[in-house]
Amino acid sequence: MKTIRDIDVENKTVLVRVDYNVPIENGEVTSDLRISASLPTLKYLLDHGAKKVVLISHLGRPEGKVNPEFSLEPVLKCLRALLPGPEIGFYTLEKGEKLADQNCRVALLENLRFDPREEANDIGFAQEIVDFAEPDLFVQDGFGVVHRAHASTDAITKLLPSYAGLLLEKEITNLEKVLHNPARPLLMVIGGAKVEDKAPLIEKFVGLADQIAVGGKIAADGYKNDSDKIYVANDFDEDGSGAKLDVGPASTVRIAGMIENAKTIVWNGLLGKAEDPAFSTASTIVAEMMGEKTDATTIVCGGDTTAFVEELTLTHPTLKYSLVSTGGGAALEFLLGNKLPGLENLN
Ligand code: 3PG
Repeated sequence: MKTIRDIDVENKTVLVRVDYNVPIENGEVTSDLRISASLPTLKYLLDHGAKKVVLISHLGRPEGKVNPEFSLEPVLKCLRALLPGPEIGFYTLEKGEKLADQNCRVALLENLRFDPREEANDIGFAQEIVDFAEPDLFVQDGFGVVHRAHASTDAITKLLPSYAGLLLEKEITNLEKVLHNPARPLLMVIGGAKVEDKAPLIEKFVGLADQIAVGGKIAADGYKNDSDKIYVANDFDEDGSGAKLDVGPASTVRIAGMIENAKTIVWNGLLGKAEDPAFSTASTIVAEMMGEKTDATTIVCGGDTTAFVEELTLTHPTLKYSLVSTGGGAALEFLLGNKLPGLENLN
């Protein structure tokens, strides 16, 4: 995969697919992980003389209709705060308008999913984006969306020379380390609520990992398996009604021991009902131990898990991870070894 580091971007107009599908409440972005994670690519392009940087993204699932609830305007506000300096324009695709006539170095286009042709992977829609922005090249940096074959992830690559951005490169490089020749022991820590979501991951990793630690509701519900590599938490902190809402102290100590020894750790899924501080102990211990490790590749993935870690690092800024993945579904698909359409046609 060629990245933007392998090409000359000076004086070029660069179309960048980002994944700015971020949580928004009352018109404010509540987690800027995906926006701040895109900054290295944007800064690289600007520092290396790109003429214009045009950002395209979706937000939520507006089902092909214009809906102000799903506007990217709150993202624009957040991006302007995180990337002070260049003027950042905001545009809606309209026939006849050309970005070249607009006076801004960075442009953000309104939510692509306001047009049904985005999700239909319509080459005509991709061509309209190209006609508007007149880019010299396309950069895929929206790792969170590469598991979708949409106009802005797939069709667009048929129209422009296409390269990987720095976030995409970081995500793939770290996730690759898990699948191919990982430093061992390789430990996977799995939590979360839905066994149907996590079972394929556990099955795939039985063949790859040295140990798999299972917590969360799937453990509380009594996840059954017959592999000696899999440890399922078996004591729990309960609420007044006896609901098992967090991995208990004895199982947490077992999992902590595995983390201490591991050289590669992938964590997907909270170990308890961590939004309630009374049941966040096991997840906090895992997050802290991983964030303090200096001798291992540490990867956190899955929306709830990354949000938890993001929040924790606000108060514990010294915690560091090799990767806090911006891709929920995409990271899972990658780890499962599935093909990701948004990666297929990059140069
Ligand atoms: C995500 O948040 O997983 C990506 O942005 C993809 O969004 P989608 O699941 O609505 O396609």
